[in-house]
Amino acid sequence: MTTDSCSSACLARLDLEKITKAYDSEPWWYDVRGFLILTFAYRATLWEQLRLFSANIGPRHLEVAIGSGTLFGMILRRARREGRAPQRVVGCDYAERMLAGAARRFAKDPLIELGLADVGRMPYPDADFDSVNVANAMHCFPDLGLALREIRRVLRPGGTLAANVLLHPRGGWPWRGIAERINRWGAAKGIVNRPYDRDEVLVAVAAAGLALEREWVSGNVCNMVLRRPA
Ligand SMILES: C[S@@+](CC[C@H](N)C(=O)[O-])C[C@H]1O[C@@H](n2cnc3c(N)ncnc32)[C@H](O)[C@@H]1O
Repeated sequence: MTTDSCSSACLARLDLEKITKAYDSEPWWYDVRGFLILTFAYRATLWEQLRLFSANIGPRHLEVAIGSGTLFGMILRRARREGRAPQRVVGCDYAERMLAGAARRFAKDPLIELGLADVGRMPYPDADFDSVNVANAMHCFPDLGLALREIRRVLRPGGTLAANVLLHPRGGWPWRGIAERINRWGAAKGIVNRPYDRDEVLVAVAAAGLALEREWVSGNVCNMVLRRPA
């Protein structure tokens, strides 16, 4: 195979292998690491995330990049407490180790189906879900545009996507420098693909045919609620 014919599909495979390796750690370590990244790289709080993602649980819900399920467990508990109990919940992720952690966590919740899937090519029919969440993972995917288009496909017309995307660090000393170092470390390990500019995220969303319902920046993160037009 020549370099020219090693197309983006080939590169995507390498990226996905890197992701699998980056998330091939014990789920407890992943959770501790995630908390540090949330605090010092995203400069976001757990409460903000719970508010955003639990409000977007519809009757047929897909949690993309569910990871070890620690955050999603909290999101689901909150949604149920607030009277938004889904009838069907599917969680998918590309890392087997993370899914194994999620399988243990949700072993006693028969509602939750888990599956190994790449966000760029999910094994779900068109318009299968009322809601999709992508928590802390948009900036991990090798191809943001492809992920958004694939999520749009599995959402029913009128269905909603809640997501947050890591932005290039902002703010003064020492926070910006700390976040930049964490991002460089995360990118070298394959945990993060890259941070984004807010405007390029909004362009990618529009190009994927998703309508912006709400968007706001907090810390180093762009939070969004998007809708597949009816
Ligand atoms: C930072 S973790 C977030 C996990 C969880 N949503 C949370 O907030 O705790 C990113 C997750 O994205 C998953 N991931 C990365 N690339 C993926 C892809 N192409 N398709 C599906 N999942 C992917 C990783 O395996 C990892 O579990």
